[in-house]
Amino acid sequence: MKVSIIGAGNVGATTAQRLAELDIADVMMLDVVEGLAQGKALDIAQAAPVMGYNVDVAGTNDYRDISSSDIVIVTAGIARKPGMDRDDLLATNIKITREVCSHIQEQTPDAIIMTVTNPLDVTTYAAVKCMQQERGRVFGMSGLLDSSRFATFIAKEIGCNVRDVNAMVLGGHGDSMIPLPEYTTVSGIPLTKMMEKETIDRLVQRTVNAGAEIVGYLKTGSAFYAPSAAIAIMTEAILKDTKKIVPASVYLDGEYGLRDICLGVPVKIGKNGAEEIIELKLTKEQEQALKQSAEDVHQSILKI
Ligand code: LAC
Repeated sequence: MKVSIIGAGNVGATTAQRLAELDIADVMMLDVVEGLAQGKALDIAQAAPVMGYNVDVAGTNDYRDISSSDIVIVTAGIARKPGMDRDDLLATNIKITREVCSHIQEQTPDAIIMTVTNPLDVTTYAAVKCMQQERGRVFGMSGLLDSSRFATFIAKEIGCNVRDVNAMVLGGHGDSMIPLPEYTTVSGIPLTKMMEKETIDRLVQRTVNAGAEIVGYLKTGSAFYAPSAAIAIMTEAILKDTKKIVPASVYLDGEYGLRDICLGVPVKIGKNGAEEIIELKLTKEQEQALKQSAEDVHQSILKI
């Protein structure tokens, strides 16, 4: 198996490290900056004897080296600085996404594509439109990250084992994302039965703001440890065909009453990518929030 990662910045390189440590596929990391992907890949490769993984990790500036990839993960783009929202990245990152997709189309047209670049739902939409691929083989990673953040805050609040928390976040990867307490459980117990509404609301708000909270600390960039963890686990779900159900940004064609848009919804991940969309029964309020989230993403799509 071969996974290529476009972009050797913090997200790309940390993803390469996590995939190597999972020992599930050879990793080819590509960056436009001369030597960056090569240097980081060599460093990761040199950890193999100590860590005990046995996959090839290599870096390149040449798109021909991504040929015959099973999966291509697109992380290339500029990151947020304090005060910026994800949409401030729109023009630059859409241009980069389109360039990258045309190279993927040329070198490895059958690969499954996972986009990560922000604004996530819009770059995913651009990638879907650029690639001549079946629906579900091009999708964006964001909901698993947002759910992981929600689960982290819940476990900390309760003081319970984080592994017992199963969280669900729908919608666009932006200020209008929708953490769903009704579909979030702690050892099977609905969150709504474990916490007061005020506490849940506070954790929901922190989840929506979680990316910006980190940008606020880092000042010169955004999160990459939790994003790369989510990417790695979704990649593993494809390579091992695990049928893991996670929220991801996919092209909707009538599901949830939405059409011609990419938005985060629960999907089943297997060897063909996002193989099935799971439609949840939403309350009127949640439905309204999802419509609003779709409208926000739609406005950005109109700009591109
Ligand atoms: C985040 C940015 C990277 O959520 O979108 O951390």
